[in-house]
Amino acid sequence: KFEKNTVITVFGASGDLSKKKTFPALFGLYREGYLDESTKIFGYARSKLDDESLRSRIKPFLKKIHGDKDNEKVEKFLSKISYVSGQYDSDEGYQSLKGEIEKFEKGAQQPHRVYYLALPPSVFITVASRIKKNIYPENGVCRIVVEKPFGHDLESARELQEELAPLFPEDEIFRIDHYLGKEMVKNLLVFRFGNTVFNAGWNRENIKCIQLTFKEPFGTEGRGGYFDKIGIIRDVMQNHLLQILTLLTMERPVSFDPESVRDEKVKVLKAFAPINQKDIIIGQYGRSLDGTKPSYLDDETVSEGSKCITFAALTFNIQNERWDGVPIIMKAGKALNEGKVEIRIQFKAVPSGVFNDIPNNELVIRVQPDEAIYLKCNMKTPGFSNSTQITDLDLTYARRYQDFWIPEAYESLIRDVLLDDHSNFVRDDELEVSWALFTPLLNYLENPNGPAPEIYPYGTRGPSGLSKYLSKHGYIFEKRQDYQWPVTRPSKI
Ligand code: BG6
Repeated sequence: KFEKNTVITVFGASGDLSKKKTFPALFGLYREGYLDESTKIFGYARSKLDDESLRSRIKPFLKKIHGDKDNEKVEKFLSKISYVSGQYDSDEGYQSLKGEIEKFEKGAQQPHRVYYLALPPSVFITVASRIKKNIYPENGVCRIVVEKPFGHDLESARELQEELAPLFPEDEIFRIDHYLGKEMVKNLLVFRFGNTVFNAGWNRENIKCIQLTFKEPFGTEGRGGYFDKIGIIRDVMQNHLLQILTLLTMERPVSFDPESVRDEKVKVLKAFAPINQKDIIIGQYGRSLDGTKPSYLDDETVSEGSKCITFAALTFNIQNERWDGVPIIMKAGKALNEGKVEIRIQFKAVPSGVFNDIPNNELVIRVQPDEAIYLKCNMKTPGFSNSTQITDLDLTYARRYQDFWIPEAYESLIRDVLLDDHSNFVRDDELEVSWALFTPLLNYLENPNGPAPEIYPYGTRGPSGLSKYLSKHGYIFEKRQDYQWPVTRPSKI
C-alpha cells in the first residue's frame, strides 16, 4: 500500500550519488508504476540551481526501457521535482524547504515525509539535527534514509549512532547497504530455507569451504581521494560482502518479519571468530603489464606512497554448531581481470571406493553480472560410456526469467522505505558487531608499522600468492578442458 501525497526530499541533490542512483531509482519505480502519481520530490543542496537545471542534470541518467513510451514518463517524473537551495548548517534553508513542503501538503493531518541523505558523513549529523528541528512531522510519518559509510571504525560508528539515536528512533532510520537490494541477495533466504535439499547440506558435515568473491575490472579512477582513506575493506567488505555472508550463514528466522531476520543476522555475526591478521593477503594495483592502465599511486588525488589496499583476501571461521571449521574466504579487489560477484560453496568429496578422482560438488551463486545459480555435479557420460562427466544444474536468470523485470538495488530498497519494511536495512546493533569484527584488522593494517600491500598488475587476478592461499583454505580450483560455465553466455541467449 502506498501512502498518497508522500514527500521525498533528497539532500545532496546536486551530487553524484543522487544523480546516478537516487533520482534514477525513483524514476525506475515511477516508470514501473511503484511510485504513486501523488508523490512530490524535492531536491535540496547548497548549489544555486533552479528546478529546471536540476531536472536537466538528472535527465540523462533516467533509464528508459520501454522505448519511446517512456519519454512521456520521464517528463511527468521530472515535473514532480522541485529544487530548494540552502545551507546544511543553518535553519534558513530548512525553513524555506518547510514552506515548500507545507504548500504541497496543504495542511494534511498526517504528513508522510521521507528524507534521503545522499551526503558525505561529515555533514550527516548536522543535516539530521536540522531536519529534526525544522521539518520533522510531529503528527505524521518520518523516514530518514542514510548511506554508507556509517562510521570509519567501531568507535566512530558508535559516536555517530549516539548522536543519531536521540534524534530519530531506530524505526525511522533506514541505513542503506545497496547489496541488500540485489535480486540474488534477496533470494538467499528463500533459496536456503525454502528448499529442503539445499538446507539439509548447509553445514560443516557437508561443506568443505565457502568463497565469496568481489571483482571489479576498473581501479579507483576519479575516486582516489575518497578511496585513499577508505580502502577495499571499508569500501565493500565490512558492509556489502559481510551482509551477503551473514545471509548465507545465519540460522532460519522465526518469520520473515524484519526484526526476526535481523535478530538472526546479529546472532551469527557474534559467532564469527576474530579475523586472523596473519592469515590475509593484501594488495594494491600497479600499472597493467602492457603499461596502458595506471597504477593506484598514479592517481594524483592519492597521497604519495599510500599503502591503501585495493585487494584483500581473508578467511572467517564461525564458531557455532553449523559452521565451526569451515573456511569462509572473502576476497575483493579493484583493477582485476574481470568484474563479478559470486559465492562458491564447495562440498566435501564423496567417500573413496567406487570413484577415482571425481570432482567435489560446487554450488555457485552468481550475484552479478548475469544472475545465476548453478550446481556442478557428476553424471554418467551419455551413451555406452560408463565414465563420469562434470556438468551442471543451471538456473540462469536471463534464460529462465525472461519475462520478469528485475529492479535495480536502489529501486528495490527505496520501495522498501516507502512500504516501511526494514528487512533489507542495517540495524544499529548489526552495524556495531560488523565494525567490532573488522576494526582490529583495520588498526593492524593502518598502523604506521603495518604490512605493505603487494603490488599486482592492473588487469590480473590479484597478488601472486592468491592461488596458494585459496588452496591452503581448502578451495579447489579446477580448470577443466571438458567443462566451462556457461556453455552459452546469457547475454547471447
Ligand atoms: C560501492 C563502493 O559501495 O559499491 C564502490 O563504494 C563499488 O567502490 C560499488 O564499486 C559496487 O557496487 P555495484 O553495485 O556496482 O557492485
